[in-house]
Amino acid sequence: RQAWLRYAPLPRGHSTPTLPSTILALNSSASSPVYTAGQELQKGIQGIFGKRLSVHATGKQASSAVVGTASQFQKLFGSNPVKDELIEDGFWLNVKGGTVQILGQNERGALYGAFEYLSMLAQGNFSNVEYATNPAAPIRWVNSWDNMDGSIERGFAGKSVFFAGGHVASNLTRVSEYARLLSSIRINAVVVNNVNANFTTVNAENIAGVARIADVFRPYGIQLGLSLDFATPMKLGNLSTYDPLDSEVIAYWNAVTQQIYDHIFDFAGYLVKADSEGTPGPLVYNRTLADGANLFARALQPFGGIVMYRAFVYNQLPDEGDWKADRANAAVDYFQPLDGQFDDNVIIQIKYGPIDFQVREPASPLFANLPNTSTAIELQVAQEYLGQQCHLVYLPPLWRTILDFDLRVDNQSSLVRNVVTGERFKRPLGGSAAVVNVGLNDTWLGSHLAMSNLYAYGRLAWDWTSDSEEILQDWTRLTFGLDKTVVDTITQMSMASWPAYENYSGNLGEQTLTDILYTHFGPNPQTLDNTPWGQWTRADHTGIGMDRTVSTGTGFSGQYPPEVAAMYEDVETTPDDLLLWFHHVNYTQKLKSAKTVIQHFYDAHYEGAETAQRFVQMWQSLKGKVDDERFEDVLFRQSFQAGHSIVWRDAVVNFYNNVSGIPDDAGRVGHH
Ligand code: GCU
Repeated sequence: RQAWLRYAPLPRGHSTPTLPSTILALNSSASSPVYTAGQELQKGIQGIFGKRLSVHATGKQASSAVVGTASQFQKLFGSNPVKDELIEDGFWLNVKGGTVQILGQNERGALYGAFEYLSMLAQGNFSNVEYATNPAAPIRWVNSWDNMDGSIERGFAGKSVFFAGGHVASNLTRVSEYARLLSSIRINAVVVNNVNANFTTVNAENIAGVARIADVFRPYGIQLGLSLDFATPMKLGNLSTYDPLDSEVIAYWNAVTQQIYDHIFDFAGYLVKADSEGTPGPLVYNRTLADGANLFARALQPFGGIVMYRAFVYNQLPDEGDWKADRANAAVDYFQPLDGQFDDNVIIQIKYGPIDFQVREPASPLFANLPNTSTAIELQVAQEYLGQQCHLVYLPPLWRTILDFDLRVDNQSSLVRNVVTGERFKRPLGGSAAVVNVGLNDTWLGSHLAMSNLYAYGRLAWDWTSDSEEILQDWTRLTFGLDKTVVDTITQMSMASWPAYENYSGNLGEQTLTDILYTHFGPNPQTLDNTPWGQWTRADHTGIGMDRTVSTGTGFSGQYPPEVAAMYEDVETTPDDLLLWFHHVNYTQKLKSAKTVIQHFYDAHYEGAETAQRFVQMWQSLKGKVDDERFEDVLFRQSFQAGHSIVWRDAVVNFYNNVSGIPDDAGRVGHH
């Protein structure tokens, strides 16, 4: 349960640095992040070096670790040693042997700095350093899809840490442990309940309940947010409407919001999934999505809260008979015309791709279409379509393909990451949210190795240019110790894992090919077509792929700015890995690799499954270097993945062999 915050003793024989002789934490109030930082430094140094330092709130000892805000330091010492500019949540770290200054722009930043110093020590890094670091964006959120009854939507690790039986859990110990982990990766807010929200979340009892969660979060610098059911005024408030322009509805939400702030003065804001997959929303009353978002924005504005309004709005019953129908078009169709109509405290939260957390998607074109609106990217640490934490899939390389993508708005550099930080369009707000499905399971996510995705999410949300492999190695050392073989092996496995999963699931931009109807787990390519979900592949006897071109298809490629649109419009310039996303081609179409589409399917599936077999041997080579309990747990999961990857391989290659009737050159598949 300590995950990457174990503070394990360094290996025998490792040198000990000059340590501070005391800790000076410049706020002694137990709910303050600076107090937490002092406690954490004490605990960390004791764990790593076996030396218990005392913590003080006053005094001026020479060789001490001082943690606080820059202004608290200034008050006590009469000077401000911070040499660079700090923005909100940023911190300054100055380590000179046993003299350590950890100064935040705010208290939360000070806590982040303490975790950074401890992370260095825990990894045996005793260098003297002096630098400031600031976040890429102010919104670094986690979304929990926890239901009030304690179940978790797409949860793979037990019941909710927040809720049980329709109420907030009575014992919040796990919430506190979770908050500690999240603050160490600089997450600053958590929306605790499911986007498919239950209106009871905001009844009087539950507001008081979530206020207890907020109290547990506060010493870790984490704010609480809530998902709302748009129809609450009717379901809970006994109004006859939930029309966002109705004065009683407006008054209702103002009152609910007031009530929340009465209990939670630092409430972060709302997350809204409206008019999406059957949820109620403004479209029911012929109001715009901007009317819906601004309703909440105005209720929150006096308190400084924000609305994360989700762009995941689509008609889930598009007509498959219509060659030009395309669910992928929905977000831009709905939101682009509203650009400029959202209040300043609205952020449009956009899933990384236009469909739904698939193994490979192009960047959502909506990122290029809202220059006058603040946006955030939505990622999934929950491996909903990606093996549900039963498969090792290290996600940062996938995320980076999106975040580093250049949308070329106005023919200028427009990386997705620079859009969502607010930099590209000079927006005051922006950032990211990740869906994280931790549960009561002792591993949090149901799998030890899956925790690298959570750790990496926080690191990337702070700095999207951080190197995926370096993040992983920090995580591995903190989680499993400093043994080089362990670090190298887990690095090799993890870095090979997303390509392997893509190889044995959906190739060439054809979506994941998992079961779309119910589980989103395991292979089920036949469920993509002939269903109302609009995740079609249009596979028939001769060809496969969605024609999303402007000239002959759904027009989706035209949602990108001209340079990108032109690239995707043409089969020749579309990268192989997105070929079937944008084009309908014959199975015998030649790829840039000179293979045919169908032969690529066969080869990739065999290659991916072979890689998953190797993960088992690689992990086995770590026996004795990782404690038995975690060794066995991971081995079990890797064995499962190895077997399941063969199930995937055979299901997918046989399916396309049957549909196409084209044999495998290597003679592995079907009848010849
Ligand atoms: C996916 C997921 C749903 C979820 C939805 C959303 O479709 O399967 O469980 O509610 O995304 O993000 O709103």
